[in-house]
Amino acid sequence: MKITVTGTGYVGLVTGVCLAEIGHDVICYDIDEPKVQMMKQGISPIYEPGLDELMRKNMEQGRLFFTADEEMAYGQADIIYIAVGTPEKEDGSADLTYVEEAALAISRYVRKRAIVVIKSTVPVGTNDRIQRMIHEHKAAEADITVVSNPEFLREGSAIYDMFHGDRIVIGANDPEAATVIADINKPFGIPIIHTDIRSAEMIKYAANAFLATKISFINEIANICEKVGANIDDVAYGIGQDHRIGPHFLKAGIGYGGSCFPKDTKALVQLAGNLQYQFDLLEAVIHVNNKQQLLLYTKAKELFGSLAGKKVAVLGLSFKPNTDDIREAASLVFIHRLLADQAQVTVYDPIAMEKAKAILGDQVVYASSAAEALCGQEIAFIATEWEEIKALPFSLYVEKMKDPVIFDGRNCYDIKEAERFPLTYISIGRRPIV
Ligand code: UGA
Repeated sequence: MKITVTGTGYVGLVTGVCLAEIGHDVICYDIDEPKVQMMKQGISPIYEPGLDELMRKNMEQGRLFFTADEEMAYGQADIIYIAVGTPEKEDGSADLTYVEEAALAISRYVRKRAIVVIKSTVPVGTNDRIQRMIHEHKAAEADITVVSNPEFLREGSAIYDMFHGDRIVIGANDPEAATVIADINKPFGIPIIHTDIRSAEMIKYAANAFLATKISFINEIANICEKVGANIDDVAYGIGQDHRIGPHFLKAGIGYGGSCFPKDTKALVQLAGNLQYQFDLLEAVIHVNNKQQLLLYTKAKELFGSLAGKKVAVLGLSFKPNTDDIREAASLVFIHRLLADQAQVTVYDPIAMEKAKAILGDQVVYASSAAEALCGQEIAFIATEWEEIKALPFSLYVEKMKDPVIFDGRNCYDIKEAERFPLTYISIGRRPIV
């Protein structure tokens, strides 16, 4: 089987590399020529632990190729994965332009039997629409079936997830195509769930919406814990031991960010709304998250009144550790507020500095280490729980800062440890140390 993956963002590239790793011949196609040149040299355009090594290994072994040539990508392919972006439109709905362009290009070049697998997160009904579109435009001799195969990878552990995921969902209305895609995935050794196309599309949105709901729920509980004098770490552990609830996604913090939860929750609200259904619960989840992303800023305002002229360090910029992705990161949301209040902001992130520069420009100072970022500051905000940041001792804050006040948005430290130092430590859902 010749496999082509179109779109080499994090989903497409990881999928292509891992399909090669389990023995398939894979061509990764992207419209972006410079990006393709980079990948041909074995350099991944995204930061994802383990990806470069796996990419180079499979290129050397002759199973993985990159091209910006549409005909080469689609002409001979038996299976074509569409993994292009579905960015958010102004009204919150998903922009399907790239998926549709890929479908049209496939229709132009395919001349035989082929299965088109849609990996991109698309609103329910899109696979059917793409199937119709391909049928209208394809060559007479081409026989093309569309299959939905949503992805559940987490950025930062995407390679691990490809080999250790909980399930693979294959949504198809054509049983033969479903079997072919199941066979391709068999070497991953992950349970396969077969559904119809619309259910597969819905599983993706429902899974992300549910996880986002868990996060907003625990964040609300954390905010109440602060008021009643309870400790959110103990509360989350206590409820998570109930197997009906489970221990995952109960880490309180400054909300969810990234390219998936914010976009997918809004898209599902929009999708329901288009069908005259108001998704009240998910709207509340989004509202809570918007509030939570500003929580550290709100707490700082409460403590200091004005933040004008305050010297502030922000540690961690990416939306979570082990990625350089800063899309919809809480850090950016509150940094913009700090800047609007005329605070003097210095930032540090182990990996995401270049991406941050593209957005924040010269409005902030960029430090080359956490210690440098803390030097002479009055306030430290912690936005991402990188191991490097979790390992910083309180003594460093005391040594580098002036009367340190730490706002920890990810509960990186033990509050009992904070009590031993002359500092103010304010975290999420736990008593403040002053
Ligand atoms: C998420 C899902 O976890 C994946 O299953 C899905 O495939 C992916 O979206 C997608 O749709 O492509 P990802 O956005 O990479 O993956 O990151 P997560 O690890 O899920 O974290 C998302 C956000 O939630 C982060 O900002 C993280 O800090 C936050 N979070 C997560 C919490 O605040 N608390 C938690 O307990 C867990």
